[in-house]
Amino acid sequence: MRLTVIGTGYLGAVHAACMADIGHDVLGVDTDTTKIAALAQGQAPFFEPGLPEVLTRNNRGGRLRFTTSLQEAADFADVHFVCVGTPQRADSLAADLTHVEAVVDALAGLLTRDSLLVGKSTVPVGTTRALARRLAVRLRPGVKAEIAWNPEFLREGFAVQDTFRPDRLVVGVTSPEADRVLREVYAPILAAGTAYVSTDPATAELVKVAANSFLATKISFINAMAEVCDATGADVVTLADAMGHDARIGRRFLSAGLGFGGGCLPKDIRAFLARAEELKVGEAVSFLRQIDEINHRQRRRTVDAACQLLGGTFDGQRVAVLGATFKPDSDDVRDSPALAVAAEIADRGADVVVHDPKGLDNARAVLPGPAYCADATEACRDADVVLHLTEWSHYRDLDPAALADVVRAPRILDARNALDPALWRAAGWHLRALGRPASVPQPGTSDARRVTIPQRGAPESAAPAAGSPLSRAPK
Ligand code: UGA
Repeated sequence: MRLTVIGTGYLGAVHAACMADIGHDVLGVDTDTTKIAALAQGQAPFFEPGLPEVLTRNNRGGRLRFTTSLQEAADFADVHFVCVGTPQRADSLAADLTHVEAVVDALAGLLTRDSLLVGKSTVPVGTTRALARRLAVRLRPGVKAEIAWNPEFLREGFAVQDTFRPDRLVVGVTSPEADRVLREVYAPILAAGTAYVSTDPATAELVKVAANSFLATKISFINAMAEVCDATGADVVTLADAMGHDARIGRRFLSAGLGFGGGCLPKDIRAFLARAEELKVGEAVSFLRQIDEINHRQRRRTVDAACQLLGGTFDGQRVAVLGATFKPDSDDVRDSPALAVAAEIADRGADVVVHDPKGLDNARAVLPGPAYCADATEACRDADVVLHLTEWSHYRDLDPAALADVVRAPRILDARNALDPALWRAAGWHLRALGRPASVPQPGTSDARRVTIPQRGAPESAAPAAGSPLSRAPK
């Protein structure tokens, strides 16, 4: 089939490449000429494992091309995927639909044959119906077009694999014909046994925001438990493991720590709150406000814990930050909890050095203040404390004994609960983790290099200064 994919950001670039790979003729469209030029060369404009290979394979195979011309897109195919961004509006919690509306408006006037538009962006419930009205009044006489919604559930870092082997495909359609076309588009994926849910557009739109809200709720739930653990000496990792054995609960997305960030979960729960209020059902999802607040509190708790490790002040202290991206295996720093913490600590007088395996350029662009270092060990040189803020596997592979030799004081805060505390403590580190018991000397380990951590009583609940990076909490 001939398909276009309009918007070649994270979602669109992966979708275009993967649709070509399953056998379609695909034209990717974007207004960003630099991005289009890179994609046409087989280069992904962001780090995503496996994507350059799929791009190159299909560019060379002639099934994948890119353009900046929407007219060319209208002429090329009858099925158009809309994958443009729906960021949070600057003036409210709501989603900004400007880009989606602009694409629908512009494409409507260019279509000369009956067509199907398929939205994949994350949108507030009711958007498809509103867009169908915009579409209808802009079509040329005699041209018919329908709009369906087909939300995307891919995770950054696993985007290619999630597109080829999704947990489910969800389509919101208003006609059997649209359903037939979408089954044909996804035929190879459906043939592999993927669940297919065909429903109305409102339900399809809601599946996406409800799923992301549920994931955010799981994370904030376990982070709330981590706070209780810190107050009682209990261990949140064991707690999550034990809860996760219950198949009704499951262990995934129960990793306590610095909380969620990125371009999706934070803005999606806020947009859902805003939309629910418009629909006069704000009370039904008001708990999401607390989910957002718990999430932001983890950033403050991390800064407080780091301050305590340093004896109550960041002034003049050297802080090594391991991780800048919002999650590992991505170079995305949008709403990154790690960078928010780095920014706050720098604001409070520390000399901050940040390392990240893939996100340094993006981090430097949004947060120019700290020093950036491409080598994790060098980033830790002479550090008074090391903060493990994004759980790249690279950091689990560091040798704690060797790292202890380069720092000024072997203190580490594992804000992702991903390091092995016994290993680090055995190498002489004072390790603090969120929601886990504090370091206790283990029988049989050498105390020779163990440092005494001065506790000058940094208050756990210290509020961030107004205007600090951490105070950008939900409105
Ligand atoms: C998320 C969803 O997982 C995807 O299904 C969805 O398609 C996507 O948003 C989207 O809406 O486009 P993604 O933003 O790539 O995917 O990231 P996640 O893997 O969901 O992680 C989000 C954040 O939660 C990260 O900052 C991660 O570190 C954090 N997290 C995740 C935790 O703090 N604890 C956990 O147990 C899991």
